[in-house]
Amino acid sequence: MTKKIVLITGVTRGLGGAMAEEFIRLGHTVFGCGRSKDQIGQLTRRFSAPHEFRAVDVASEDEVKSWAAGLLASHSAPDLLLNNAALINKNRPLWKISGAEFSQVIDVNVKGVANVIRHFVPAMIQRGRGVIVNFSSGWGRSTDAEVAPYCATKWAIEGLSLALAQELPSGLAVVPLNPGIINTEMLQSSFGSSASSYPSPAEWAKTAVPFLLKLGPSDNGRQLGPP
Ligand SMILES: NC(=O)c1ccc[n+]([C@@H]2O[C@H](COP(=O)([O-])OP(=O)(O)OC[C@H]3O[C@@H](n4cnc5c(N)ncnc54)[C@H](OP(=O)(O)O)[C@@H]3O)[C@@H](O)[C@H]2O)c1
Repeated sequence: MTKKIVLITGVTRGLGGAMAEEFIRLGHTVFGCGRSKDQIGQLTRRFSAPHEFRAVDVASEDEVKSWAAGLLASHSAPDLLLNNAALINKNRPLWKISGAEFSQVIDVNVKGVANVIRHFVPAMIQRGRGVIVNFSSGWGRSTDAEVAPYCATKWAIEGLSLALAQELPSGLAVVPLNPGIINTEMLQSSFGSSASSYPSPAEWAKTAVPFLLKLGPSDNGRQLGPP
């Protein structure tokens, strides 16, 4: 099996954390980010070079730009770019959600994904290969009450990904992925105690990581469902 360079946003917990562990266990190199400096420090102590973890807020274009410049100066472009980092609004009807909370969800879930694409994808294009996976949701293809901002961002991710698929040169691919329903802090925020009846991120990653490793150019533009 070819060892891959995997870039993952949002590795400090949840699906991103579980994927990072599983890719590393299988011998791949992981570059990851998240905002929590303590968690990033723990990952750095636990997984030494060639893996690299950095405190980066994907909503900050300057932070993403500097992260990309640093990594790409000493490593080749990622084989797999996983735009996983996201936030969900607190369960509330749209008219009760503050402008600040609405903006934060858009800034991370949509503009954050575009920031990462803007600063990493040119190197992938130059290299002539690579797969971009933009984490969507069941709520990127359906809707529910009290999660309107989150739904808006995940529908945006579907559109952004399908348009990007029409722009990428051959050899590259981008897909929106609905990962399924997994018991993470995000799910607990929207589902409450019933989140505990869903699989753990570690269980999910055992199936998801081999699925992600198999994606290639022929998947470009496919709207993928749970692994
Ligand atoms: N869990 C599910 O059932 C489910 C279902 C459908 C879709 N999804 C999607 O799957 C992905 C992962 O979700 P999850 O359930 O694992 O969520 P989670 O447990 O809340 O974890 C989110 C991760 O994203 C990071 N993050 C948030 N804002 C960030 C920012 N501005 N910059 C960098 N990192 C940031 C968080 O780290 P910091 O707080 O340290 O920044 C954390 O590591 C998301 O895109 C989500 O929408 C999940």
